[in-house]
Amino acid sequence: MQTKVIHHPLIKSKLGIVRSKETDSKLFRESINEIAGLMCYEATKDLKTDIINIETPLAKTEAETLATDIVIVPILRAGLGMTDAIHMLIPHAKVGHIGLYRDETTFIPAKYYTKLPDVKNATVLLLDPMLATGGSVKASYDILVEAGAKDIRFIGIVGSPEGVKKTETSCPKMSIYLAAIDEKLNDNKYIVPGLGDAGDRLFGTK
Ligand code: PRP
Ligand code: URA
Repeated sequence: MQTKVIHHPLIKSKLGIVRSKETDSKLFRESINEIAGLMCYEATKDLKTDIINIETPLAKTEAETLATDIVIVPILRAGLGMTDAIHMLIPHAKVGHIGLYRDETTFIPAKYYTKLPDVKNATVLLLDPMLATGGSVKASYDILVEAGAKDIRFIGIVGSPEGVKKTETSCPKMSIYLAAIDEKLNDNKYIVPGLGDAGDRLFGTK
């Protein structure tokens, strides 16, 4: 599997909320975060666990704990909107950041910030709600591979057909989880119908 579109009624109903232009920034932020938490469940369901010995108030027993380190990496800015819910579910995860912005005329991502913990033996959850041309995800993938990451899982929300295709070929070692693959990109490389500018809607900058 490379790309998995997660079909779940809770995700679908929240997707309707974030797509609507009537949704204000507060509800948009909450819903993006909730979708991310639900998607994290699917993207992590094959993680290995180790057996540990614990004591309940009544008896000794065995329990399970995550066997690998998890590193959450939001792509700035919009990936930040997905981080809290996932960090809450995996509180011991470390958080790295990759700062990119898409040039408005060339649509090529420009890097402005990278700060990563050790990713060599970790499962990396790369976050960005929008997979449009795929340029930002590819640039982030290259940074992570260069840093030694081997298990990279991209959790997005809305993708375009061309972005997904490009990402599948240019990021061969990465699994891709999305809530929807939309119809197309418009002339400004925005996803249609999409949800608009995720960063601006999350942070109220437009
Ligand atoms: C948006 C979005 C992705 C990128 C997707 O970010 O959050 O990172 O565009 O487009 P692509 O697949 O064509 O690369 P943007 O660069 O607008 O920055 P922002 O999150 O700071 O608004
Ligand atoms: N970035 C966004 O925020 N939305 C899109 O549709 C494309 C890029």
